[in-house]
Amino acid sequence: MSQHFSHDILVIGSGAAGLSLALRLDPAIRVAVIAKSNLSEGSTRYAQGGISAVLDPGDSVEAHIVDTLNAGAGLCKAETVRFSAEHSAAQIQWLQSLGMPFTAREGHDNECHLTREGGHSHRRVAHATDATGRALEDTLIHAVQARPNIEVFENHIAVDLITATKLGQRPQRALGAYVLNRDSGRVQVFHARNVALATGGASKVYLYTSNPDVSTGDGIAMAWRAGCRTANMEFIQFHPTCLYHPQAKSFLISEALRGEGAKLLLPDGSTFMQRFDSRGELAPRDIVARAIDHEMKRLGADCLYLDISFKPTDFITHHFPNIHRRCLEYGFDMTREPLPVVPAAHYTCGGVMTDLHGRSDLGGLYAIGETASTGLHGANRLASNSLLECLVFGEAAAADINRHWRDHGIPEQLPDWDESRVSDSDEQIVVAHNWDELRRFMWDYVGIVRSSKRLQRAQRRIDLLTLEIEEYYSNFSITNDLIELRNLVQAAGLIIRSALQRTESRGLHYTLDYPHTDDTRPPQDTILTPTNYSPQPIAKQQADQAEDLAKNPG
Ligand code: FAD
Ligand code: SIN
Repeated sequence: MSQHFSHDILVIGSGAAGLSLALRLDPAIRVAVIAKSNLSEGSTRYAQGGISAVLDPGDSVEAHIVDTLNAGAGLCKAETVRFSAEHSAAQIQWLQSLGMPFTAREGHDNECHLTREGGHSHRRVAHATDATGRALEDTLIHAVQARPNIEVFENHIAVDLITATKLGQRPQRALGAYVLNRDSGRVQVFHARNVALATGGASKVYLYTSNPDVSTGDGIAMAWRAGCRTANMEFIQFHPTCLYHPQAKSFLISEALRGEGAKLLLPDGSTFMQRFDSRGELAPRDIVARAIDHEMKRLGADCLYLDISFKPTDFITHHFPNIHRRCLEYGFDMTREPLPVVPAAHYTCGGVMTDLHGRSDLGGLYAIGETASTGLHGANRLASNSLLECLVFGEAAAADINRHWRDHGIPEQLPDWDESRVSDSDEQIVVAHNWDELRRFMWDYVGIVRSSKRLQRAQRRIDLLTLEIEEYYSNFSITNDLIELRNLVQAAGLIIRSALQRTESRGLHYTLDYPHTDDTRPPQDTILTPTNYSPQPIAKQQADQAEDLAKNPG
């Protein structure tokens, strides 16, 4: 028998999106927040640069809107951009009211110091030195601990949503979720009037990523399986500057360094960004990442360099104390030498389609934060707009839930998790192997520069993996790794299909076969709807693959 829990709202994810939503709910609402690792683990904790907000008297909402639209390359939703920019200052004030230790402007204790990042026409990024995410996550967790209506479940990974449709009921609605308690190994049943997916992005589909291990696209995959549409999944943002060091696991070197004047260098010490864009190091990320990728391939270099050592030591250690300390641990002194850097997968711009309240296609199901596609980022996210989106939509979804939570009762009688037909696997190697294979071919075939041929190759491999994993999932007891792999494969499949559908280059999607932006028609979102695709049978896949290999050896 499964253990059952009942709450008014189930929030899946404890990053900036999930916790800010939980905190903004009416205290009468009984909330469960589940996190698959410990509460603080997620991309939020690792954010460095900060949160974009219109705070400076010389800045304006209109300027923030224009910068966001420019970065988004024609695919931002105007109303979402305006909504976010208009609500940006209020997010910072709310965080200050919770005690968030923003770095203050020198001599002005009550004003935030604002840093600058690529694509921003003004200093607009509020931060807590260079460890904004840690300060943010600590602030939110501290506030959650003081709220008796919020119950927290760490080490609990959601497996799948329970929906009325899956139970053969009407109307279509989310009713809760099956959740694996990683400590006990048992699947529990969570009943809720509303469910919010706040599970972060899917950058772990790539071999090299700035993201922590939890970013496996679980919310996107769960929503897709529950019948929700996704938008613009081809737009994966590669951060230009992660530290190049075998042990650093893609440690990020914040864009704020370039904002404060750092230069990108080739191995011979020369600068190159002006050749690619007149904004140089402060061009939007897609342009900088592609320029680095281009130069690395042209020169056969393992990495390029980022140099801020010409600034006074005090300036560097004051602005970037954590990056300075971490780099020293890896043997690099950024006050004296350039840092070796490479691009890595950083942010999932697309996701579960939502409206301005964070509502998805399925009744009772919200999606917020990196999991969602609200239309704020379009084809490329402006730096530091992500934490802003988490906070703005955490607030918007909470307001919607506060208005409507009593409209539906807490569902009763949800079925136990059925384990009667599965056994424990004696072949865990299948999961480990498929996980590695997936992340490598995604990096090689669906990376910064794409082509139709590479995408088709990736599509064939993903179809095979999908069938293999679904078969494995049906026959064996679930584990954390299997749940994540199933979701990664699903998220990767959505990225590839979306990329194949876009027959142009735009924003973060660059393909050699269509190197130009299609200006002959209005920009189009890539919207995928569940039910219109199923992988090809394995025999057909293998035949195609053999044919492909015969034609193109190597
Ligand atoms: P996350 O913070 O990733 O949290 C996801 C949560 O979901 C976690 O609690 C996780 O345990 C949980 N979860 C996932 N799947 C499941 C499941 N199946 N069951 C249960 N729980 C689950 N953005 C900015 O705006 N400014 C920055 O300066 C900035 N710097 C960044 C630096 C780094 C190194 C990285 C990686 C990202 C950075 N970003 C930045 C992006 C930004 O941090 C993220 O987009 C944002 O934090 C995402 O927040 P989130 O709440 O949506 O998800
Ligand atoms: C950074 O500090 O460079 C990351 C900022 C972001 O991802 O928005």
